[in-house]
Amino acid sequence: MCGIVGYIGTEQAAPILLSGLSKLEYRGYDSAGIAVYDGTKVNVAKTKGRLKVLTEQTHDGQKLPGKLGIGHTRWATHGSPSDMNAHPHANSDESIVVVHNGIIENYIKLKRKLEKKGYTFVSETDTEVIAHLLDYYYRGNPLEAVTKIMHRMEGSYALGILFKDHPNELYAVRKDSPLIVGHTKGGSIIASDVPAVLKYTRDVYFIENEEIVRMTESEMEFFTVDEEPLQKEPVHIDWDENAAEKGGYEHFMLKEMYEQPKAITDTFSPRLKNGDIVIDELGMSDGDIREIRKIMIVACGSAYHTGVTGKYVFEGLARIPVEVDLASEFRYRDPILDEGTLVVVISQSGETADSLAALREAKARGRRVLGIVNVVGSSIAREADNVMYTWAGPEIAVATTKAYSCQLIALYLLAMKFAKVRGMISESELEEMITELKKIPAQVEMLLNNKDRIQKFANRYLAAKNIFFIGRGIDYAISLEGSLKLKEISYIHSEAYAAGELKHGTISLIEDGTLVTALVTQEELYKKTISNIVEVKTRGAFVMAVTNTGNTDVEKAADYVVYIPKTNKYFANSLAIIPLQLFGYYVSVGRGCDVDKPRNLAKSVTVE
Ligand code: F6R
Repeated sequence: MCGIVGYIGTEQAAPILLSGLSKLEYRGYDSAGIAVYDGTKVNVAKTKGRLKVLTEQTHDGQKLPGKLGIGHTRWATHGSPSDMNAHPHANSDESIVVVHNGIIENYIKLKRKLEKKGYTFVSETDTEVIAHLLDYYYRGNPLEAVTKIMHRMEGSYALGILFKDHPNELYAVRKDSPLIVGHTKGGSIIASDVPAVLKYTRDVYFIENEEIVRMTESEMEFFTVDEEPLQKEPVHIDWDENAAEKGGYEHFMLKEMYEQPKAITDTFSPRLKNGDIVIDELGMSDGDIREIRKIMIVACGSAYHTGVTGKYVFEGLARIPVEVDLASEFRYRDPILDEGTLVVVISQSGETADSLAALREAKARGRRVLGIVNVVGSSIAREADNVMYTWAGPEIAVATTKAYSCQLIALYLLAMKFAKVRGMISESELEEMITELKKIPAQVEMLLNNKDRIQKFANRYLAAKNIFFIGRGIDYAISLEGSLKLKEISYIHSEAYAAGELKHGTISLIEDGTLVTALVTQEELYKKTISNIVEVKTRGAFVMAVTNTGNTDVEKAADYVVYIPKTNKYFANSLAIIPLQLFGYYVSVGRGCDVDKPRNLAKSVTVE
């Protein structure tokens, strides 16, 4: 996820671009840049770091005169955060300049072709390919060049483009990445999202997939990919600036929960090719995968919880023994890391101090470390031997939701790949799993749309003192995360227990009316967990169960049942966590807590 802006008009462009970017920093903030045409040439200013570095360097944009420009705030995907990788990117003589939000999936193929034709590249980004590809097709007609590259590029993009030869025009186009355009008092503006333009206009055009926009100071024209003109109607925006930044959602956490279907798709789709799982970044041959004797998963907090799920998935599917450890424990316990142990460090931020220290410990002991990381170019991503990125985009709310969901997907993909290579699952079993995996985004969306029912239920527990989560196997892993989501943002004490363990002490805490949330998604464990539900009910608990559609037997034991669609048993966490995220969220909202910034917590824990 990145943010793009563009402006053409009667005002100086740079301050408008910087102001727009300041409203898009939630989309990415590892580097920023602007390009402005000054009447004779395009001047580019770009830098690693937050937007304020660029703002200072350009003296609030005053250093860049000109009334036509584009800008970008970056969340690195291809190429680590650096001055060179920051956008805008240009062709060799800087006559075509581009900003891009999205991922060009076939950029390596395109880059090789262009290199053969004599083009040289200066960055590691997929975006630079766009600038050179435009140069390759450009014969004096920008619209024609834009449509030609659209036929060549696979993946997602929202682009702002300047052609030096056409100093009175700004071009924009999109496919699968958001883009809006609007008229300002003396010109036209483009942006990835509404907050960036609200200061200048409240009437915007939402650009649809494969639509192209040509703007001049006074005109705006829309075209199809076949260069046919299009008519579009503007939409009036009523949101205040604050709500707009959150896409109209009340909190970033809710917005990010709703981004899960896309984030999950973005994480699995580039790795599914011709019915197989291809994880090039793993850097392991099939022979290397067969030689793995043990997997050691190390992480903190929610990332640790995905690791606990990973244990069940790897062991069940690939029959590889897995140990999961909290990074803060692992690093000080002189861990035994025999040869053949693959160490997997999971981290959204890639900066968690304990996880980073654990990685270094594992490397010092000569073990290969695979990072599963969300932030490109972060410390864990840089120091791991190999890194598999989760494509969740920036997560702003302190309590993780979409990054957690993407970590699960990364682990499923790895486990399925390992299982296939080690001969533990057949082609057809893999095919069935891939079919189920692809259904997850739509199923998550369906569960999210059930939010009103969960909100009503949550409102009954705003004054609760203790809430328990129980489950067996993967359901235990889900319980851990459900409990953390609730307690960290609502400040209600909560514990997660392996359902069979409760009677060894904790059950004494169950009183009349205590809420126990029981996870019942693993078919072979249905009966066992139902017995545990009966045990707590006998002691006065009120039981909410989360189970698979069709398991109506649960209704005989539980007081309140939330059904999730039936999926492959290893994927149940991805669905069952959704009502639990919603539950935690609405309890927190109902109690008036600071949902996005809970007390005492930080998004990235860079201290031990
Ligand atoms: C909880 C949460 C934290 C993080 C933990 C690890 O909602 O977000 O428990 O999961 O601090 O952070 P990362 O994944 O950045 O290493």
